[in-house]
Amino acid sequence: MKTEWYKSMAFYQIWIRSFYDGNGDGIGDLYGVYEKLPYIKSLGIDGIWFSPLYPSPNADYGYDISDYKNIHPDYGDLEQFKKVLDKAHSLGLKVIMDLVINHTSDEHPWFIESKKSKDNPYSDYYIWRDAKKGKLPNNWYSLFEGKAWEYCPERDQYYLHIFAKKQPDLNMDNPKVREEIKSIMRFWLDMGIDGFREDVITFISKVDNLPDGLPFIPVANGMPYYKDGPHIHEYLREFRRVCNEYDCFQLGEGPMTTIKSALSYMTGKNKSLDLMFHFDHMLADCIYTEYIQRPFNLRLLKRAFSKWQKALNGKAWNTLYLENHDHPRIISRYGNEHYHRASGTMLAICYLFQQGTPFVYQGQEIGMTNIKLKSIDQYMDVSSHNNYHSFHLKDSIEKRMERIHASSRDSSRTPMQWDSSKNAGFTTGKPWFYVNPNYKRINVAAEENQPYSILNLYRKCLYYRKNSEVALWGDYTEYYKASSLLYVYKRTYKNNQLLIVCSFSSHHLRWHNIKEFKGIKGKLVICNYPNPIHGVLKPYEARVYEY
Ligand code: NOJ
Repeated sequence: MKTEWYKSMAFYQIWIRSFYDGNGDGIGDLYGVYEKLPYIKSLGIDGIWFSPLYPSPNADYGYDISDYKNIHPDYGDLEQFKKVLDKAHSLGLKVIMDLVINHTSDEHPWFIESKKSKDNPYSDYYIWRDAKKGKLPNNWYSLFEGKAWEYCPERDQYYLHIFAKKQPDLNMDNPKVREEIKSIMRFWLDMGIDGFREDVITFISKVDNLPDGLPFIPVANGMPYYKDGPHIHEYLREFRRVCNEYDCFQLGEGPMTTIKSALSYMTGKNKSLDLMFHFDHMLADCIYTEYIQRPFNLRLLKRAFSKWQKALNGKAWNTLYLENHDHPRIISRYGNEHYHRASGTMLAICYLFQQGTPFVYQGQEIGMTNIKLKSIDQYMDVSSHNNYHSFHLKDSIEKRMERIHASSRDSSRTPMQWDSSKNAGFTTGKPWFYVNPNYKRINVAAEENQPYSILNLYRKCLYYRKNSEVALWGDYTEYYKASSLLYVYKRTYKNNQLLIVCSFSSHHLRWHNIKEFKGIKGKLVICNYPNPIHGVLKPYEARVYEY
């Protein structure tokens, strides 16, 4: 029986390039992380998820790996990584690494060899196909850059890339590739890490004949043929066996995953993952991806939250998050920048008290918001460029930029705002990317001193959770389901109950307690305003009561 320590923990995600620069070259690094570990610990966090630290040409900022067993020189080296790992462990922090195995960089030595000929030892490491009647092997579009096939003159063949051109998909059907993966896993586990976050792991097994997808979907139309593919469980069970040799856990990313599919990975004979990131609650203001927007709809958000809370209870364990390096900042989306503090704290309460393991993304704990750069040329993210240059081309530049402002992944990748000094205290050099101009107001140092700041509220919630059986293990019941302004839920464990009340309104709201608690005095243990008024919720007010 594997230990399930991850269930009572809270994780902090580091996207290192923008976290903290320890050597003054303008790029966040492991020297910076080393310095900031006590800060992370002070939040009430128990573990760190590192987005990729490996050498990479950065076509997709680390998710295009050119050496799996090393550290990108921008971030330090293996020795520095080990120092960070040891210090993290000495502070009681677990460390998990990103395992990106659906694809490599096209600059990975495997691919450099593979593309040379059809009969070299690496020729079958990737998914190569001949042209079909003078056309591409099939009609798939990639997620990031036009069609999913790129021609390679040396082999007179095409290779598949579900993401960017510089991210060729690995051929997981090749047992040698799977051996390589296992060796990578062992390399990091032997060094002492505690687990993996597994990138788009549900995509790694493709249907044999790679049939055409629907022609009228201009992005990822091949997904039915690579999501939860034919051998996925077999391959993941192989990887699981490696993990079982260590006391570690596996968290899979499951884009567009359904409850049924998620449970097939987390339970039963095929159990290969402990946790899964699903995307349902990230679609309350967009369709399919942030690039196709719609107005924020609280009911959609609540439905997604409650659906997963109910379905996994007693069967598997939820992963709770509102932000990561792939999504714009949550206050700019589901909250309100004009009620920055109130909506940032309310959003924290609304998800941190659900059942599951919470993840907090760097900067989320101080309420960082989206950046609005003037021109598309200032953006770095490959998928933002794809969106700008491939869709809605008839729209005016202003309109397209508006969409980028609301949806770009770069908004969550601006340098961390540590204080109000130059460059937000992120670096003494020239920052690699734009610092959000609001850093003078929104930064760690300023929020340290304000008792009701977003930062201090995250701390309060995370410490509370840790020490509360009902917050950790309680069952979940939602109330006021039809409300488009209130999110109310209860947690129950043995004889203890918590009631969580969150207002998504920018106006004052009358609040009547749920029936079963009418007339019973609960103890208000957390509130994001200093002097709550009986029966009235202030804009974006949130409360946690113990009963
Ligand atoms: C999911 C990662 O989170 C994202 O950043 C990346 O671009 C894609 N997978 C491709 O690796």
